[in-house]
Amino acid sequence: MNPEQRYERHKSAVERYLRSFITEHKPKTLYHPAKYVLVAGGKRIRPVITLLACEAVGGEANNAMHAGAGIEILHNFTLVHDDIMDHAETRRGRLTVHKKWDENVALLSGDALLAFAYRALLRTKSTHIQEIGKIFTEGVVTICEGQALDKEFETRHRVHVNEYLMMIEKKTGKLVSIAAQLGALVGNAAPSDLEALRRYGEYVGRAFQIQDDLLDIVGNEKEFGKTIGGDLVEGKKTFLLLEALRRAKGEQKKMLQRIFTNRGVPRKQIQAFRLIYEETGAIDSAKKRIENDITEAKNQLSTLPASAARETLRWMTDRLLNRKF
Ligand code: IPE
Ligand code: IPE
Ligand code: MG
Ligand code: MG
Ligand code: MG
Repeated sequence: MNPEQRYERHKSAVERYLRSFITEHKPKTLYHPAKYVLVAGGKRIRPVITLLACEAVGGEANNAMHAGAGIEILHNFTLVHDDIMDHAETRRGRLTVHKKWDENVALLSGDALLAFAYRALLRTKSTHIQEIGKIFTEGVVTICEGQALDKEFETRHRVHVNEYLMMIEKKTGKLVSIAAQLGALVGNAAPSDLEALRRYGEYVGRAFQIQDDLLDIVGNEKEFGKTIGGDLVEGKKTFLLLEALRRAKGEQKKMLQRIFTNRGVPRKQIQAFRLIYEETGAIDSAKKRIENDITEAKNQLSTLPASAARETLRWMTDRLLNRKF
């Protein structure tokens, strides 16, 4: 089995698990949206990382399935609420829950998804279950902190790139990192392997969010599944905006600064902003940053014993760089 096949096999197993996970039907304004979200597809990179991390330390992937599914359901919960917070209309090529139904439905089905995440996680059979529960719970708190900072930064004029990096480590890096950690714990990893996988997740998660910021402006809407330019419309402090602000001069700088007075960018100006991002070198700078983090992530993997699972993690990491994810 080559890495791609291994990834696809694990992804399919996650899909099967999620499809049959919610057995309740009524009230339908709760369960219909919850199921709508769980079967919408997505890359499933976090649960696949959990399964592979377990295998990479000598465990049985199947034993990490409840934990992986818990991670994926938690991720889906964050997306439902994130789409309300970001006024997003599409996700995975379909209407977001609050657009298809309404905000109350999205809030409540999101809440239920968080409980479902725990329902899945707590089915894990492991002597480390207490540690697993603790890491997961602290992860939820950290994601909330990251999301709060993301919103606070929208109305702040000055955000240092280090503050941005801390914010994305919390809102995105943490979940990828705990995905790897939980898999390693279920597989009874040695402390050094557990630590390597935790750090692997941190680097991948950070690269992944910078890549997401990049695709929000240069991506293909059909492949991306989300409306392009949303970050500019919302006035998000992305890596690109911070880099462009640092580098721009004259007219371009003035134009960028209008994002503060106008609290975002009108949709028709998005292409003009893209040009500024290109001309100031912000796009190249983001790509370099991603490449660096990907290299660091792969260095962490090198410390693990050689295995097919490790090669699949490496393959996924490279694929992230080529952005087929
Ligand atoms: C989207 O995550 C949210 C971010 C952290 C950028 P993904 O890009 O993994 O979304 P899906 O699950 O594949 O749809
Ligand atoms: C996602 O950040 C972080 C979380 C959902 C926790 P974004 O807001 O950039 O994610 P997308 O672009 O909506 O998927
Ligand atoms: Mg957001
Ligand atoms: Mg969003
Ligand atoms: Mg985004």
